[in-house]
Amino acid sequence: MELKDKIVLTGVKPTGTLHFGNYVGAIKPAIELGNQTDEGKHFMFIADYHALNQEKDGSNISQWTKEIASVYLACGLDPKHSVFYRQSDVPEIFELQVLLSAYTPKGWMNKAHAYKASVDKNNEKGVHVDDGVNMGLYTYPTLMASDILMFQSDIVPVGKDQVQHVEITRDIASSINHVYEKEIFNKPEYSLKEDAALVPGTDGRKMSKSYGNVIPLFKTDKELKKAIMSIATDSRPIEEPKDPEEILVYEIYKALATPERLEEMAAGLREGKLGYGHVKKMLLEDYIEKISAMREKYEYYMTHEDELEAILQEGAKKARAIASKNLVEIKAKIFGE
Ligand code: ADP
Ligand code: TRP
Repeated sequence: MELKDKIVLTGVKPTGTLHFGNYVGAIKPAIELGNQTDEGKHFMFIADYHALNQEKDGSNISQWTKEIASVYLACGLDPKHSVFYRQSDVPEIFELQVLLSAYTPKGWMNKAHAYKASVDKNNEKGVHVDDGVNMGLYTYPTLMASDILMFQSDIVPVGKDQVQHVEITRDIASSINHVYEKEIFNKPEYSLKEDAALVPGTDGRKMSKSYGNVIPLFKTDKELKKAIMSIATDSRPIEEPKDPEEILVYEIYKALATPERLEEMAAGLREGKLGYGHVKKMLLEDYIEKISAMREKYEYYMTHEDELEAILQEGAKKARAIASKNLVEIKAKIFGE
């Protein structure tokens, strides 16, 4: 089966405002992959019920959902080609989760990374192992399995931290198929995004919302300037020749510059002709040029809420039509035709 015939599904958890690292490592590759599939075979959704496990302020989740939907549309996701929806608008997913739970050994959940990380932290602190753990976190992998199996997905593009969830999904699918000796669920494969695409943040660690070191994706020029000017540098003078590979601004620039501009910066640093102020200015200018058309579209969607909502509702309608049909078939295979 070629990629274009496969069902590709990706979810994004609305837990914060997106940054440039997310664009390079998740948004752009997801959209490019989606465009290589056949129409209607790419599923892209906003996992708002997953987010509820960590964020209880629903207005924050709504705001981040709106931002993420606007970002994906602005970056080229075509809602006519891809099925683009909000998880909570497709209740069939939650019915399937109940069904999957009946076949999921509790022991698998004990081993899931997110839960284990909480247990380890609690053990370190000397408090009860399950302190602060809700059932949503504990059964997170079954909801993710349901997201994936609901649409009989073939490929799930994920970051490293999500691989285990896809493996659990495969195991759940296999064990149900085994019980009934029927191919009830398709076993999905994960496709792992390369680490090479990791963009460093303004302090040199991986750009991450939890480190507060981000270049926000679509903020005003002024806010972008503030973030870029805060990129860590040292106090060496302009004239001192520098190895570009050791310069953080250059590392970030790699993720967006054309080969010519990148070489221009590298040569300037090597020859002691460009200082940190100059290279930051180059980064800022090229960043703004790269994103400005997308930012305009982003702002359009952010200020045309009804239109944005209509797109998500149209996506949910398409998703529900497939999900309800699949659910009927799945139930028939289990309870009898
Ligand atoms: P954060 O670290 O900001 O919380 P997430 O863990 O929510 O980001 O990641 C969401 C997606 O963005 C993942 O697919 C992840 O691989 C990608 N991503 C996050 N940070 C980076 C980065 N610095 N460089 C490249 N990709 C990233
Ligand atoms: N758990 C994923 C994350 O934290 C988001 C997600 C939810 C997802 N359901 C999914 C990703 C299904 C891929 C497929 O990033």
